[in-house]
Amino acid sequence: MRIAFLLAVVCLLVGCDSRFDTFQPNDVFSLALAKTRSTSTELASRDTSRVVEDLYGTPDEPLWPVSQAAKSPLSDERNLLRSSGPVSSEKDGTHLGLFREHCVTCHALEGSGAGPASVFQNPYPRDFRHGVFKWKSTERGQKPTRRDLRELLIKGIPGTAMPSFALLDPDDLDALVDYVIFLSTRGEVERRMIAAAIDELDYSETSPAKGLILSSQSDTEGGQVVQEVMDRVHKDWEEANSHEVAVPSFAELSGEQLAASVARGSDFFHGQVANCAGCHGPGGDGSLPTLDYDDWTKEYTTRIGLTPSDREAMKPFRDAGALRPRKIAPRTLRDGVFHGGGDSASLYRRITQGIAGTPMPAVEVVSEPNGKGLTTEQIWDLVRYVQQLSTSP
Ligand code: HEC
Ligand code: HEC
Repeated sequence: MRIAFLLAVVCLLVGCDSRFDTFQPNDVFSLALAKTRSTSTELASRDTSRVVEDLYGTPDEPLWPVSQAAKSPLSDERNLLRSSGPVSSEKDGTHLGLFREHCVTCHALEGSGAGPASVFQNPYPRDFRHGVFKWKSTERGQKPTRRDLRELLIKGIPGTAMPSFALLDPDDLDALVDYVIFLSTRGEVERRMIAAAIDELDYSETSPAKGLILSSQSDTEGGQVVQEVMDRVHKDWEEANSHEVAVPSFAELSGEQLAASVARGSDFFHGQVANCAGCHGPGGDGSLPTLDYDDWTKEYTTRIGLTPSDREAMKPFRDAGALRPRKIAPRTLRDGVFHGGGDSASLYRRITQGIAGTPMPAVEVVSEPNGKGLTTEQIWDLVRYVQQLSTSP
């Protein structure tokens, strides 16, 4: 195992084959779609790969297509070039190939999260192509802001394999943020395009009529659908800032007041409305068995009616590059390690939004206690309780 891993790393560094010429197509998504739509997605995938390459280029020469919705490119052209391509340095010391230098062993060239080192990790590295991120300041269904991504790179994700990149040049960090947005956008457009080809453009075992063929030119119906898909994803990224969750003021309590707040928080934690204990176990000790999967895994398992432990059913997906399905743990909250930050603002956002891509639900914020949600003050009680748990293992 170890040797295979080392070989894979060496291959990544020196290049044992020509896998860097193009981005790998998203075969796992394509297979899952074929199953839910009961048709072949082969032609749709093939044409999607062609159009996506026309629009977004290759790992060595990425492009940022202008879309109607987001007129200014979401990522700086120079940053894109610095992050992509093979690792090297320019005369003035500028680093090139940043993604391959720092990220590719885990996140893979196309950002699938299935890089050679991924098999050893739990949680797995993020597949950026879903366009879903967990640790961010925005509403659950929204993209992270640039600042979220930048802070994430600086801090890393404690408790996971994702390291901190605090020591990189600030310019390199900016370039990498742009490149994450690029890979995520490109990958999400790819997914949506295959689906649109099947659902809107008559792709099946046979190609559709000429005007419905996927195209990077918007003068046909096929081209217009491609534009719409692109516009949608680019716009979501462009609007991320406006979806930041505002955090109301938080009082620092001490002594009896703090103890009373923590006690109320404990009641909410174990109570009907929030029922945190239902997943995290009584006292947040993570003692309950884990039965659920995250959205990245559900896509090729439970969501399409397949049992993750059924090796036979998983085989085509594994062959297409899917990682071995692994359950997601609600985790203990008593070990003092927060993946997305243990400060009050982060916890407020986590509780009121849940965690995107995972089973962790949101608690509704209500203005009056009504048995359905919690008021802001009650959420602060809960936050204080969770913070107290984490410091008293
Ligand atoms: C050693 C493996 C490893 C390396 C190297 C690595 N990551 Fe990660 N990364 C992970 C893992 C594991 C996760 C998932 C953590 C989780 O689900 O909480 C992750 C998650 C992420 C996320 C998603 C955060 C979110 O809010 O969902 C981003 C963005 C990211 N990594 C960017 C990068 C970039 C950019 C680099 C290179 C500069 C990089 N990673 C290098 C392992 C790695
Ligand atoms: C349906 C199950 C479920 C419920 C209910 C639930 N959680 Fe979670 N929670 C999870 C899972 C799964 C994770 C792990 C997510 C991950 O790391 O990807 C998690 C993670 C967390 C984290 C860790 C965040 C971090 O930064 O590491 C906190 C804090 C948390 N939950 C608090 C709560 C609180 C408070 C409640 C009640 C309001 C709650 N959870 C209800 C499933 C649940």
